[in-house]
Amino acid sequence: MPSKEFLDLFGPGPISIARAPGRVNLIGDHTDYNGGYVLPAAIDREVRIAFRPADDARVEIAALDFSEKAASDLKSLDAASVPAWARYPMGVASILQKEGHVLRGMRMALRSNVPIGAGLSSSAAVEAASALAFCHAAKLRIAPEELARICQRAENEFVGMRCGIMDQFVSLLGKSGCALFIDCQTLQHALAPLDDSKAQMVICDTRVKRELTRSPYNQRREECEKALAIIRQHLPSAATYHDLNVTLFKAQEHHLPDLLLKRARHVVTENGRVLHAVKVLRAGDLIAFGALMDASHASLRDDFEVSCPELDLLVDVAGRSPGVYGSRMTGAGFGGCTVTLVAPRNAADFAQEAAAEFKAQFGREPAVHMLKASDGATVESAKP
Ligand code: GLA
Repeated sequence: MPSKEFLDLFGPGPISIARAPGRVNLIGDHTDYNGGYVLPAAIDREVRIAFRPADDARVEIAALDFSEKAASDLKSLDAASVPAWARYPMGVASILQKEGHVLRGMRMALRSNVPIGAGLSSSAAVEAASALAFCHAAKLRIAPEELARICQRAENEFVGMRCGIMDQFVSLLGKSGCALFIDCQTLQHALAPLDDSKAQMVICDTRVKRELTRSPYNQRREECEKALAIIRQHLPSAATYHDLNVTLFKAQEHHLPDLLLKRARHVVTENGRVLHAVKVLRAGDLIAFGALMDASHASLRDDFEVSCPELDLLVDVAGRSPGVYGSRMTGAGFGGCTVTLVAPRNAADFAQEAAAEFKAQFGREPAVHMLKASDGATVESAKP
């Protein structure tokens, strides 16, 4: 609990707590920024921010996990003058103000048990918790869908990572026991049950660290845009990938150079897989769902080229393990985690087997987490 440390740092008085979870994406990667479909779940790993509004215009934030502090005046928020970790909360304050909201000064103390840099959206969780804290302190009522857009803007403009909206959206709107289907073009969304008595989510973290602002993530995004621009010359109705399906795409693919064809083919086929996945999940068909996860991994590996040997090995082991429905890399890739859906009675054996094969191949252990689909962000008063 960050409240005790908060009192030590900022003195006595009432405190509120904003909490926001990380996420795992079950299927639909590199589709959100292309106006496509995703199916993530919020997880039971979260960021907690103890906070209190102040009567000045300063934002002071303590990162308890690494004993650092950052401060800035609300009138001169600037990414260059704060440490990298503080750009997420400060960025949210900056965008809220740019959109005309009047904020109060804040004292904040932040703690997280979302693994950092593992592809489980620790940064989106910080943004979502900060957004709720700033809104609560200034008595702003902003719908969570809108808040997700503001958090995404903070990451795009203040941090410099051109992410889509999936992570922030599910951190704010996730529900316990459910995955969240999101149409990232219209922001329409719907829950789909993820029953953990039938399937356990096992997350294997390769601990291959990525820093997405410097990874080829932004480059992939540009490749998708280039491919779409070429398609649009021949099919003007294709304003985004939302307007394409596999049949329409096949009729145009000969216009694309090889590399752009692969990138666009991933996006178009992945969108189709997500739509199919929601249907089969609702029908309780975990075998069909798992097959779509496997196909998604192959597409991310071969067409989108964002996997790595460590992720591929974990997915291969899952493919040979009893009780596994499906497995894939999750999130941006270039390292990070796999998500595997496995029958609960086989989950521990799979985890052991994956860790052993990983160690034999790479000489070190992956981190393995058994996670549950959990509720999205909330604010509550801290107990005295
Ligand atoms: C990161 C981004 C998301 C999404 C995924 C890939 O997590 O933050 O917006 O693009 O990568 O699906």
